[in-house]
Amino acid sequence: MIFIWAEDTQHAIGHKGQLPWHLPADMAFFKQHTIGKTLISGSRTFASYKKPLPHRKNIVLTTRTATDYPSSVEVLHSASEVAAYEQAHPQETVIVSGGAKVFKSLLPYVDTLLRTRVQHTFKADTYMPKIDYDQFELISSTTHQPDEKNPYSMIFEHWQRR
Ligand SMILES: NC(=O)c1ccc[n+]([C@@H]2O[C@H](COP(=O)([O-])OP(=O)(O)OC[C@H]3O[C@@H](n4cnc5c(N)ncnc54)[C@H](OP(=O)(O)O)[C@@H]3O)[C@@H](O)[C@H]2O)c1
Repeated sequence: MIFIWAEDTQHAIGHKGQLPWHLPADMAFFKQHTIGKTLISGSRTFASYKKPLPHRKNIVLTTRTATDYPSSVEVLHSASEVAAYEQAHPQETVIVSGGAKVFKSLLPYVDTLLRTRVQHTFKADTYMPKIDYDQFELISSTTHQPDEKNPYSMIFEHWQRR
């Protein structure tokens, strides 16, 4: 299972139900890594997309019933259901797009972390849960310098569970 997210220098990830920033280079990174995969999102994060993300299998994690969602969207109700789903679908790549509640409950199952570190501090109300990076190895780290569309420097990191 893969986690993908972007955080600021204080581990902030969200503000008022949205991302605290607009960074097209990070959106492109997200798209590149999620297209064709099975995307798991918490109900708040899924609501922030406004509609299912195209060219991906969209799965929402919620305590509510499936009837609250379009028929194209699959619904799961617990972290253990997500783990069972992944076991039952070995041909799919399961990638988790958050938010904080979902990351926290799926932390025991994750083996790959795709973290974008945005080199700025934002006003925020949602923070990444604490991750013990000693349990992971940094495989690669790529810096994206600020440009006219992306006002902050970003570091794209790939971590693998040891
Ligand atoms: N920077 C980033 O990379 C990034 C990534 C994702 C999200 N975000 C931001 O983070 C914020 C949303 O995060 P959040 O933590 O507030 O919400 P969230 O994790 O997206 O959604 C929380 C909801 O998901 C459901 N849920 C979560 N864990 C569950 C579990 N184990 N079993 C069953 N249902 C579960 C519950 O839904 P019900 O209440 O429907 O039962 C819960 O209320 C937004 O601001 C978003 O833009 C940022």
